[in-house]
Amino acid sequence: MVLLDGKSLAAEIKEEIKKETAAIIDRGEKAPHLAAILVGEDPASQTYVASKEKACHETGITSSVYKYPANISEEELLKAVDFLNHDNEIDGFIVQLPLPPQINVERIISAIDPAKDVDGFHPENLGKMMTGQQGFVPATPLGIMQLLERYAIETEGKHCVVVGRSNIVGTPVSILMSRKAIPGNATVTLCHSHTQNLGEICRSADILIAAIGKPGFIKADMVKEGAVVIDVGIHRIPDESKEKGYFITGDVDFAEVSKKAGWITPVPGGVGSMTIVALLMNTLKAWKMKYQK
Ligand code: GUN
Repeated sequence: MVLLDGKSLAAEIKEEIKKETAAIIDRGEKAPHLAAILVGEDPASQTYVASKEKACHETGITSSVYKYPANISEEELLKAVDFLNHDNEIDGFIVQLPLPPQINVERIISAIDPAKDVDGFHPENLGKMMTGQQGFVPATPLGIMQLLERYAIETEGKHCVVVGRSNIVGTPVSILMSRKAIPGNATVTLCHSHTQNLGEICRSADILIAAIGKPGFIKADMVKEGAVVIDVGIHRIPDESKEKGYFITGDVDFAEVSKKAGWITPVPGGVGSMTIVALLMNTLKAWKMKYQK
């Protein structure tokens, strides 16, 4: 079994980004600038945003966080988005999800300038991804594609099974894997809560992408011997014996599946690390689209 080490690969890509950013600064140009809008006090969201800030700091990308209370109105949040759309200093920004229930997420995402939408969630960027045009690809799917590409995993003609059809991961990664590209050219099956014979379909996968949102859902009897297993889940499981009071686990039962898989991503240190670096890649791309026309 080969571990698909997202942490080491992310560190390698960060070094590449750091060199590019340093060259930009050395030329006397403005460093790329990523901003994040964070609403409320959700601990996981706070951790994600802090990790993004740290990664920016490590690579020379400027970062800012705009924090708002959980009771912010939709109108106020739309104003905050509009402010960043028009702030020439900011090259790209994200609105950290989830948002509180009084906010219509689609309205907020659709209000982001597609040229600054480094999360790739805007319908214009999703449409571009579908039709193979240049745009922003959502960070987690982009991170997964980078992992497959840099580990030289063959995808052409393979059966790729994606479990979970979220707008952020499952649906976009299923499109990317079926695109006429490398990595890509796979035969894709997208499974969800209404799928029948899920175990059987998963067992036929050469590449299994688990993005279900349920800890330890994928068991060894759902995996083909030698398969590539990509675990997108990140769950905090309360555990008093741990210093932080919890441990992190994925959608895959790593202990049993790792004995059967040919390649597997660990959690933590797999897809999560790649997501953050993919966001930095998109930020650098936004900078290039703006200044290197
Ligand atoms: N919440 C969980 N994942 C993500 C992500 O990739 N982007 C944003 N904005 N929010 C998230």
